[in-house]
Amino acid sequence: MRGANRNRGHLSVISCALSAGLLAATSPAAEAAPAQAAQYSPGAPSAGDPYFPDMGNGGYDVGHYDIRLAFSPETGAIDATTTILATATQNLSRFDLDFQGPLTISRLSVNGLNAAFTRSGAQELVITPPYGLRQGSAFVVSVTYSGVPRKVDDPALGLSGWIATKDGAVALNQPIGAATYYPVNDTPDDKATYTQTITVPTGLTVLANGEPGPTTTHDHQTTFRWSMNRPMASELSMIAIGDYDVTRGVTADGLPDITAIGRSIDTRPGQGRAFNQTTAQLVRWESSLYGQYPFDSTGGILADVGVGYALETQSRPVYDRKTSEVAGDLLAHELGHQWFGDSLTPAHWSDIWLNEGFATYSEWLYQEKFNNVPVRQTFAKVYAGEKDWSGEVADPGRDHIFDDLVYNRGAMTLQALRTKIGDRDFFRVLTLWPTAHRYGNVSTPQFIRFVERLTNRNLESLFHAWLYQPGKPAL
Ligand code: TRP
Ligand code: ZN
Repeated sequence: MRGANRNRGHLSVISCALSAGLLAATSPAAEAAPAQAAQYSPGAPSAGDPYFPDMGNGGYDVGHYDIRLAFSPETGAIDATTTILATATQNLSRFDLDFQGPLTISRLSVNGLNAAFTRSGAQELVITPPYGLRQGSAFVVSVTYSGVPRKVDDPALGLSGWIATKDGAVALNQPIGAATYYPVNDTPDDKATYTQTITVPTGLTVLANGEPGPTTTHDHQTTFRWSMNRPMASELSMIAIGDYDVTRGVTADGLPDITAIGRSIDTRPGQGRAFNQTTAQLVRWESSLYGQYPFDSTGGILADVGVGYALETQSRPVYDRKTSEVAGDLLAHELGHQWFGDSLTPAHWSDIWLNEGFATYSEWLYQEKFNNVPVRQTFAKVYAGEKDWSGEVADPGRDHIFDDLVYNRGAMTLQALRTKIGDRDFFRVLTLWPTAHRYGNVSTPQFIRFVERLTNRNLESLFHAWLYQPGKPAL
């Protein structure tokens, strides 16, 4: 789904379409264009992000992903069917999904009819349905595939995608991992709802985004069900399979709070409960700063996955063991992302400071609230200690989206703004910006305009110096 606030209502369309038989409603006869009607043409092979030209596609808008996947720890292989509900945004003769090798496809259908497909480039799955898809019409793509997924190991951006672990696998998709295990329109500006149905040998546990459904066991295989009923970018979808110790709680606001710690990780007594309770406490605290929590459950997963970073996977972040016992400020960072990054997602990767600047500022606020370190002191320390002032925060470059430039200078930008506009307006921005763009996609110019309107000030020189101009801004 593209555009803000297309959250509820969508699900009912999906379930109606599925149960009432979308196939019958869009038979070839009904769908075929009259002879003299509009032209049908291929959808674009890219969403057009200059940092990641292979990612995403054009010509349609995904509403829902239904991922059904069985995993074998012995072979590391998956056997899966992913069904995608989408709407054509142009008359489509053909369209692409993103899907990486070496997985092999055994069946691919569009509206229930076998469709021709080819695979090209790094991750283009080019699909030609037996008849054109008219602009505005809903369609269903179903892809059945299997193989051992290959993770992404990018020299600048590290590991992502489907990552095998000692006891299972963890899928972390930021920024380019999703297409390693499911066919996807892998662009942050085509959010969709998700259902994930994962089957593993009985004894293993599966966690994913959102809320759990019933777990069933047959023939030594256990099936776990998870659903994310709010729009989610593909970079934020997640699966964790392994030997986990799961803790269930609720936040003071009544949200289910599901946390898990890999059993191979050395923990101190009570750590599972503490992890769960701190998560609940910080979600509530951040709700008081950033407005209502955007999802229907929360939690976190401490996994021995070896990527060396934590990730703000939607509703339930993943903390790598290498990040050690989960420190409060790291929890505040990943949970802060639920508003900044997850609910509000930059349409383009160049604007990732809108995620990382705010998530880092969440750490600074945490230090003030829980450790008595004032934000201005943290700012002063980072401002004095930063050696590299090159680079542009609002356009760091593809290989630099996770650099200190984005995190620290992003957070310093917010503190500079706070100093300029005062606490009252600054904290209104922290609440009203995520509220106004809930579940949407955002950009830096939109943020600047938003703050200027809210404060009735011209802030061009401040934002220019901090976001667009390399060099150390004067205070
Ligand atoms: N976005 C993650 C966070 O800040 C961190 C992250 C994801 C990362 N992928 C990375 C950091 C690759 C370094 C390299 O919470
Ligand atoms: Zn972050």
